[in-house]
Amino acid sequence: MKTLIMTFFAVLAAVACGQSASELYQTHCSHCHGINFQGGNAQSLVDGIWQFGGSTGHISSNIKNGITHLGMPAYEKTLTGPQTKSIAEFLLNAEKEAGAVKPPIPETLQTLDYTIDVEIWAEGLEIPWDIAFLDADTALITERPGRLRVVDKGKLYTKPVEGTPKVVAEGQGGLLAVAFDPDYTQEGNQWVYLAYSHGLEMLPNGKRAPAMTKVVRGRINGNTWADEQVLFEAKHDDYRTTRHHYGTRIVFDADKNLYFSIGDRGTGIHAQDLSKPNGKIHRIQRDGVIPKGNPFRRKSGALPSIYTYGNRNPQGISVHPVTGKIWASEHGPLGGDEINLIAPGKNYGWPIITYGKNYNGSIITEFVRKDGMEQPVWYWNPSTAVCGIDFYHGDLFPKWNNKLLVGALKYEDVRVLDIEGSRVMHEEVILKNAGRVRDVACGPDGAVYVVLNDPGTILRLTPKKD
Ligand code: HEC
Repeated sequence: MKTLIMTFFAVLAAVACGQSASELYQTHCSHCHGINFQGGNAQSLVDGIWQFGGSTGHISSNIKNGITHLGMPAYEKTLTGPQTKSIAEFLLNAEKEAGAVKPPIPETLQTLDYTIDVEIWAEGLEIPWDIAFLDADTALITERPGRLRVVDKGKLYTKPVEGTPKVVAEGQGGLLAVAFDPDYTQEGNQWVYLAYSHGLEMLPNGKRAPAMTKVVRGRINGNTWADEQVLFEAKHDDYRTTRHHYGTRIVFDADKNLYFSIGDRGTGIHAQDLSKPNGKIHRIQRDGVIPKGNPFRRKSGALPSIYTYGNRNPQGISVHPVTGKIWASEHGPLGGDEINLIAPGKNYGWPIITYGKNYNGSIITEFVRKDGMEQPVWYWNPSTAVCGIDFYHGDLFPKWNNKLLVGALKYEDVRVLDIEGSRVMHEEVILKNAGRVRDVACGPDGAVYVVLNDPGTILRLTPKKD
């Protein structure tokens, strides 16, 4: 109902300004996108493909801020907010009327180095978030609403693991990261790690329950979650009632220390406050104990688990197969998505420095760099909505060894970043518009696995067999 009323007012406002959405389109857009939206000097807007995000919000934002490096002008100064929104809704409607359907998932992909076969490895999932492999036929998949799914002997089991922690499945929250212990197969180990949005009791005044990212480990006994141990739980005073920016992934370094992230939970300035858990990448031992070398272990008032700070919302973490260094993606604001090389004690600058703006186009800060704050190794403007990352290391795509696979939600793509030292030398989009990419993983068999949302599917990419 609220959206209906808002739509009504948006249309009303556009009309009040003199021109209907259709007239505005013909005046400002048709010479590039075509009188009937079919394309011409720019692409069709009724082909079922929204490369840069297909929600009313994303389309409005693209009209307002432009995609200037590709020749799409910014209309911020020409059109009012309600006019922009009315055009976005008008375009979505035009697309519907044109009967456009999203193209099916491609069967093959052509990349610079390989022709690739695409197969659907698992499907029918609901917002799959993370995948962890034990071997090529055994994996665990989290579904954000709170289910842990099992793939055994290559088959996805219908029944989720019973008794996994209760999650706050609202907004960006839910069951997020999953990982196997590096020594999982050793006698008596069998630990599985989970990170999720943990909620406190509902507040008496009916307000939303405060929540924060929490990390636990447990074992899967039969099909039931057992032996749970809490590894990281923030002070409940630091829990937040917001429902976004929880992070996170779980990875282990060569010393088997565990890294996870917590996004800023919507309060940017907390990322600079070492007494707060949010806006950080944390490092703990597998049993939750603070490792001896942690940078803020002895700093009074600082949380000893903090490894880096000034991180907005890292949703991808990966360990370089050769250097062992930690890399993280950071979901930034508008125009501020980043790839960072993570080093202990460093400040990554959010929200004091950023290459992005607020989603409504307003300025966050005038600074992109400052002494004592790290620069990203790479950033995207416009933002792709960067999510899961993984360094490739396997036999099937030898030319991709040590390159970084990067998934993006809004741009619905997977990229391969060629990194030398701390520089990105080359970037290639290898998959586009198959669905929102929540995670990418190099499997134990060397295949590349892509965790898609809309549709909730896992793709397996292998080199084409001749
Ligand atoms: C000067 C030419 C030009 C004009 C005028 C123009 N656009 Fe674009 N538009 C582009 C280009 C170029 C792209 C990006 C094409 C690419 O690289 O895929 C684009 C992209 C877009 C996208 C993103 C599409 C996607 O796949 O996600 C939207 C939405 C869009 N334009 C809407 C509009 C609207 C609405 C107007 C009028 C208010 C407009 N454009 C005016 C050139 C133009």
